[in-house]
Amino acid sequence: GFYTCVDKETCIACGSCGALAPDIFDYDDEGIAYVLLDGNKGKALMPSILEQDMIDAQESCPTDSIKVQTKSFDQNNDCTS
Ligand code: F3S
Repeated sequence: GFYTCVDKETCIACGSCGALAPDIFDYDDEGIAYVLLDGNKGKALMPSILEQDMIDAQESCPTDSIKVQTKSFDQNNDCTS
């Protein structure tokens, strides 16, 4: 399985991820993306039915802000750079 979160410090609010994967990504008031599933903590196992959308969004992000890994993110390995 996969876990994902957005590095909100490098996201430039391009809007690609939410267009490709609206069930996974939404935007804050400034247009910066976050993961809906768990408030961008990177701790929610991605439902398998959403994995392809997740990958499409990751590949579309111009700043590589969508982080994906096979383990849950934690304080030592989070999405903020
Ligand atoms: Fe931001 Fe990348 Fe999405 S720049 S809005 S995380 S596609």
